[in-house]
Amino acid sequence: EPERSWTPVRVTARPRWATLGPAPTHDPALLRWVAEVADLTRPDRVVWVDGSDREWAELTDRLVEAGTFTRLTAYPDSYRCVSDPGDVARVEDRTFICSPDRRDAGPTNNWVDPVAMKATMTALYDGSMRGRTMFVVPFCMGHWDAQPPMLGVEITDTEYVVASMRIMTRVGLRALELIDGGAPWVKALHSVGAPLAPGEADVPWPCNEVKYISHFPAERAIWSYGSGYGGNALLGKKCYALRIASAIARDEGWLAEHMLILKLTSPQGRVHHLAAAFPSACGKTNLAMLAPTVPGWTVETLGDDIAWMRFGPDGRLWASNPEYGLFGVAPGTGWRTNPNAMRAIAQGHTVFTNVALTDDGGVWWEGMTDEPPAHLTDWRDRDWTPDGTDADGRPLDSAGSPAAHPNSRFCTPIRQVPVLAPEYDSPEGVPISAILFGGRRRTTVPLVLQARDWTHGVFLGATISSETTAAATGQVGVVRRDPMAMLPFLGYDAGDYLAHWLSIGAATAPDLLPRVFHVNWFRRDADGGFLWPGFGENARVLAWIVGRLEGTAGAVDTAVGAVPGPADLDLTGIDLDPDRLAAALAVDHDEWRAELPLLREWFDRLGPSVPAALQQQLRALADRLEDG
Ligand code: PEP
Ligand code: MN
Ligand code: NA
Repeated sequence: EPERSWTPVRVTARPRWATLGPAPTHDPALLRWVAEVADLTRPDRVVWVDGSDREWAELTDRLVEAGTFTRLTAYPDSYRCVSDPGDVARVEDRTFICSPDRRDAGPTNNWVDPVAMKATMTALYDGSMRGRTMFVVPFCMGHWDAQPPMLGVEITDTEYVVASMRIMTRVGLRALELIDGGAPWVKALHSVGAPLAPGEADVPWPCNEVKYISHFPAERAIWSYGSGYGGNALLGKKCYALRIASAIARDEGWLAEHMLILKLTSPQGRVHHLAAAFPSACGKTNLAMLAPTVPGWTVETLGDDIAWMRFGPDGRLWASNPEYGLFGVAPGTGWRTNPNAMRAIAQGHTVFTNVALTDDGGVWWEGMTDEPPAHLTDWRDRDWTPDGTDADGRPLDSAGSPAAHPNSRFCTPIRQVPVLAPEYDSPEGVPISAILFGGRRRTTVPLVLQARDWTHGVFLGATISSETTAAATGQVGVVRRDPMAMLPFLGYDAGDYLAHWLSIGAATAPDLLPRVFHVNWFRRDADGGFLWPGFGENARVLAWIVGRLEGTAGAVDTAVGAVPGPADLDLTGIDLDPDRLAAALAVDHDEWRAELPLLREWFDRLGPSVPAALQQQLRALADRLEDG
């Protein structure tokens, strides 16, 4: 290994940052940017993050000392953290796509002129890191050997973000070597906006009431301010790998999608890879590591949130997971619902945010076990008991509220998933046989249906509807349209995005394209009970999908697509009420006719850039429902 000569950073504008100490890069643009940011934000010191084990130990020690992390005793090298109660989720109303032309942000995004946004945020960043350490985090989304490697550098002023980025992405000096070699990279700037006056004590979760999550797709840059929460602050994830990457993918002819990736092996040993898009907190993590109940089938995990899909030399779409960790929704994750996630967590090296603490140094959240422990420290650090009273029967402040925040999270290395597919770490990814779209709907949408062709599949994706969840701030349980589950993550105009999907379909032979399906695990009966048992039983739906790919499974052709009859599903070993199954699979024309005005309204809202081929799909659906 040749000795590395580290370049001192020089700035001319403000003499204070004449040197930042030795920097492990020669790249002039990177050195200039780091110096400019330090010059503006005025941290006490600048630290280049190298991804080493020693650095992890120092970061976690400091977070424990600061009172941000509680070291858990139930799991090795694991930590529990509670956020400021006002900083618990992505803030979609504070998220901006700052394209030079307003039209390019489209009707689904907040837009501010990039020059105006930079002026506003520069004023906020001025001195915003005073009293803090400014970390420079070089990272790679996806494999280091991917062609091309997708690099970024995040500047942040909290150890929490550095520790979490180290779990969620490939962090290290190798990114700087690639940048030194001339590879392009994304500038990702983050500050919690909580400067400290000299001698001022810090709080465990610094943040600011004012929040901006801004994207500059034309220059591939991200500016985030005011929040420490995952999707707002771990900028490699939603901001880069979805919003910025979707704009790059449009320009370069590939897809950056909000999808899990899984490998499915049939009892005959045949392998298919599936990608599936569901809105946040609709079970992507559970499906990605599903433990099948149907004998002979195996599911292995490749990713649980993001898929990048590019054409391979064979003309098929190949998907890879740009992430290196899981940032999963904790509530609802338990030994019964997702044993593989529980096993991943049990290995340790995990950061839990806004979960409850058990008296024996472990964590708990709603749905982890059927019975809650007799006493917990809730996510607000208050005493919590199942009946909401203390030992003397007096009501607790926490009475009536969940012990864990509904959007509490576990952040864990993907390598700990016991059913990880070895290909998760392949630079090329895996060829995709089927794409699934899904949402959370109590009515109307059957358990599974198959699109007639690619264009119909794009129509199904374009019109995904789902009841909102706690993953974003705002009302929960409202039905909203969520194209390809990308509504909060589109880096450009929604209609242009749908046109891009159609162009992907036209770029290869139809036989080589993934087949498209739509699923809904969440249909209910009149009393609110789920019609389909879900979780491991969803393998029966995956088996039917494979049967369709291989031409062995039957289906009923309906107005909305091909739907299995009860006899087309493998139901061995499960005792289902036939009426409930029929209700889960039913295509009710009255329900669908009621959907039509909502679909028209949705396309009207997206405006004139909605491709004519999709308007045509809507008219054809209306015609089929008329005839039926
Ligand atoms: C996040 O907000 O960091 C995140 C992972 O988002 P979601 O689970 O809501 O998609
Ligand atoms: Mn997600
Ligand atoms: Na979220």
